[in-house]
Amino acid sequence: MCGICVCVGSVNAVKKVFDGLKILEYRGYDSSGIAFIENDKIKCVKTVGDISNLEEKISSLQSNIAIGHTRWATHGGVTIENAHPHLSASKNLAIVHNGIVENYKELKKEFNISTTSQTDSEVFCDLIEKENGSLLEKTISASKLVKGGFAIALLSNLGEVVLAKRENPLYVAQTSFGVMATSDIYVFCDITQKYYTLSDDEFAKIENGKIFFFDKNGKKIKKKCEKIKKNLKKVEIFEKTHMKSEILETKNSLFMTYKNYQSGKLFEKIFLPKKLESICLIACGTAYHSALQGAMYFKKIKIPSQAYIASEFRYGDEILNKNTLYILISQSGETLDTIACAKMLKEKGMALLALTNTENCYLNQICQNILPTFAGKEIAVASTKAYSCQVFVLYLFSLFLSGKFLDKKKDIEDFLKELSLTDIDEEIVDYVASFEKIFFVGRGFDYITALESSLKLKEITYINSFAICAGELKHGTLALVDDKTIVISFCTFKKTKEKLFSNLEEIIARGGKVLVVSDEIVPFKSVRLPTFLEEFMPIVSVIPMQFLALKICEKLGYNPDKPKNLAKSVTVE
Ligand code: M6R
Repeated sequence: MCGICVCVGSVNAVKKVFDGLKILEYRGYDSSGIAFIENDKIKCVKTVGDISNLEEKISSLQSNIAIGHTRWATHGGVTIENAHPHLSASKNLAIVHNGIVENYKELKKEFNISTTSQTDSEVFCDLIEKENGSLLEKTISASKLVKGGFAIALLSNLGEVVLAKRENPLYVAQTSFGVMATSDIYVFCDITQKYYTLSDDEFAKIENGKIFFFDKNGKKIKKKCEKIKKNLKKVEIFEKTHMKSEILETKNSLFMTYKNYQSGKLFEKIFLPKKLESICLIACGTAYHSALQGAMYFKKIKIPSQAYIASEFRYGDEILNKNTLYILISQSGETLDTIACAKMLKEKGMALLALTNTENCYLNQICQNILPTFAGKEIAVASTKAYSCQVFVLYLFSLFLSGKFLDKKKDIEDFLKELSLTDIDEEIVDYVASFEKIFFVGRGFDYITALESSLKLKEITYINSFAICAGELKHGTLALVDDKTIVISFCTFKKTKEKLFSNLEEIIARGGKVLVVSDEIVPFKSVRLPTFLEEFMPIVSVIPMQFLALKICEKLGYNPDKPKNLAKSVTVE
């Protein structure tokens, strides 16, 4: 959420920052802006909406120092005033900020700060300016007053640049043309081979083309350089949108994931609790849905398991157990609530395992065990291929825990070979889109596919939809069913097939229409799936629903990659 990019030392610093922001745009696309030095003064260019709006404004600008930002609005609406960078009262200091200053109202009052925007970020900037000492010293003391997580870059009219980080990601690198800093290492692809990761409450100063690191007491520290992994490549898409590309990449992503797991070595490296009594899976959004599927796989091998929403878990009264394995699932590895759970569990000495799709993410740094998914970078806000890979890895892990991993080799390889991604006919798309209300139902693991399908639809089409266990309909929700309703039902969980059909008849009897997604011939209008072993069906049946959401979104004229009000990584509470 929010992207930061800094360039110091290049004659084309403004352009370099703009190029970085284009890569970061998926982190927030409400507004963007760049601050730079011109004639010893800080100048700022900002726009609202698509980053292409910024391009014309910066095309003629030259400066060898610039800081930039793409915004996902938290405090204050989507306006030019609220767009970053923000300037201090004297206009001698500029800030770009990712995160939330939770106590900004109190700070504003206590330090008598008046602002021109409604943002917490501007307060942070003024707070720093009011402190004493060098820019670095001021930043360190102001940070101590701030509650909440942040990643900031500061630029003074004297050309000083300071970086600070707590919870939100920030990376910095020495490149052939100068120093670059960013909130996503993807910006470094093709620019540098080595970079540094700022840890919590660490600071950096960029001076005379060099990077100096400091701890929270202002003491100079040495940091280890990290290498950019070879497989970290700039994303190229062959379709009109990232989302379509990413759905179509699912098969390859699953294949790559399996390739890395087939020897079983990645599982063998995991430190499990001495006596594994239960598994607790924690995540948000789509990753939470894969956690629900995972819990089903683990229960199947008789390990008591439960999935939790991270934002609930962290404030709940869950009873912790040293013999429980806590699996934290996150595509980005940056989701604040999931990270907060990981930190809390780590403090209490619990066994943690991160299931992530992003190397070197914060979550991986916290957890002692890591299971990566090899889905490749996911840019579209709506998670698709990463979800399928999360479900797949959880399935493979359940096999490993049951000791049956190698026995299932042939089934897995057959599945990967024969898997074809079920698209959805235009006629069905038009049919579904013609209804006012779209509900999703299922039983067993089909219910989880219903939850995920409904989220995809809401997220990119803005159609109000929800998912419910098929058997629950008659306990209240059936009251909503009428001839303006379509109920999309999944039928791959064989144990309750007949019961599900009765539930669907009850809908039809009330004037509702049904569409069944199944690998069998069913006595209803249907989307036909290829048949695989039941445990693979959650991966198979979600695909046509991702296409359905995408196609309705396109028909409505929306951009599926940038749904309104959302951003890819949720780094605030
Ligand atoms: O990066 P994460 O997997 O932790 O993200 C969690 C959710 O924010 C994410 O899955 C979100 O629900 C997706 N945009 C849904 O498509």
